Amino acid sequence: MERFRVMGGARLAGEVRIDGAKNSVLKLMAAALLAEGRTTLTNVPEILDIDYMAALLRRLGCEVELTPGTVVIDVPAELDHEAPYELVRRLRASICVLGPLVARLGQAKVALPGGDAIGSRGLDMHTAGLAKLGATSESEHGYIIASAPNGLKGATVWLDFPSVGATENILMAAVLADGTTVIDNAAREPEIVDLADMLIQMGAKVAGAGTSTIEIEGVPAGSLSPTSHRTVPDRIVAGTWAVAAAMTRGDVTIRNANPHHLELPLDKLVTAGADVEWLAGGFRVSMDRRPEAVDIMTLPYPGFPTDLQPAYIALNTVAEGSAMVTENIFEARFMFVNEMVRLGAEIRTDGHHAVIRGRPHLSGAPVKSHDIRAGAGLVLAGLVAEGETIVTDVHHIDRGYAGFVEQLNELGAEVIREPDPDLFTE
Ligand code: EPU
Repeated sequence: MERFRVMGGARLAGEVRIDGAKNSVLKLMAAALLAEGRTTLTNVPEILDIDYMAALLRRLGCEVELTPGTVVIDVPAELDHEAPYELVRRLRASICVLGPLVARLGQAKVALPGGDAIGSRGLDMHTAGLAKLGATSESEHGYIIASAPNGLKGATVWLDFPSVGATENILMAAVLADGTTVIDNAAREPEIVDLADMLIQMGAKVAGAGTSTIEIEGVPAGSLSPTSHRTVPDRIVAGTWAVAAAMTRGDVTIRNANPHHLELPLDKLVTAGADVEWLAGGFRVSMDRRPEAVDIMTLPYPGFPTDLQPAYIALNTVAEGSAMVTENIFEARFMFVNEMVRLGAEIRTDGHHAVIRGRPHLSGAPVKSHDIRAGAGLVLAGLVAEGETIVTDVHHIDRGYAGFVEQLNELGAEVIREPDPDLFTE
């Protein structure tokens, strides 16, 4: 176990370069399963989740080569159809092999990943969508067993909610279905567009990704070919640096990022008093005073991203005034608030609302990260706390932020990664 020792009082200044999005590349790796042969993905972040996904693909029969920034996946003609629990439990995103496996093999047995620290994370929309395409699914002994012995048939799927994962699974299944599939109330995240772009390069017929209606014209199995694809930049990592710059009254230029994917979060920073300059292939955030409190309401894209909610709570803890933050996506995403309170933050939660009264300073303390984004939010809070903040369970943060400590230090922070001597840390 490792922990971060964060010294408070830094002002972040300089440049950071953003890698490809974790939440895209994991799905692109799954999409590679749809075509036999070598797929190359670039702009890949060096994070543990990529290793976990690679392990799962190897278990399914692929050869996977990982080099810095690149993943090469060699998909065999014959794939295994079973994704076992010991691989799936480490990475919820592994559920996205379900769609490609059913599409290619007519069957899939994928372990149920279970809930996690941010909420229950159901899969009903994934299976209901696949059922519309003709795949039966049963839950047995902790596995989803999906079967479509006669192949999938195009259909119209109305999602109850624009779920990112369900949209991706249904999209990947539909590219090999017989006939036309329409996904209505589809998720519109940039990662969906990235996946659709890669599928189109592979030979799939997909229109409308990035809107609420995606139309897929199925192509025969075997007609897709492997491809090379550059992963879309990680908007959540870029947004985290943007908040870090604003909170520390710093000046950070964020390269290899797409500000169009962050319009609402960046606009909130402007409301908080920051200067945001759009650049070619990035943006710059600077701030010369204490931020003003900003209300946030998380919603599916293009609404405010739930993955940036903890960072904006951190910003509000030291802002002038009070803010209301409403979390509409994950029911347990305020769990980390108690850790913020340990840093002296004044936050009250009621259901899916949190009210934060800004204070001039937080005060450093030991805190625990529950998930990737909460962990990043706590590190940001540590940067503006008086004294030292020790953030434990940083393996969560490492899942989403490659080289976080190194980048923080390059920008002028003082953060040390060290072994966690506390044997009782869970
Ligand atoms: N939901 C259901 N049933 C379903 C599918 C979803 O009830 O069949 C619920 C979920 O429980 C949740 C809500 O719908 O309450 C939204 O879930 P969604 O399917 O949109 O999210 P996801 O695909 O599980 C991805 C990201 C998350 C990100 C969300 C929302 C990946 C691997 N994960 O999750 O990222 O928060 O979309 O944008 O792509 C993170 O990176 O820290 C992270 C949690």
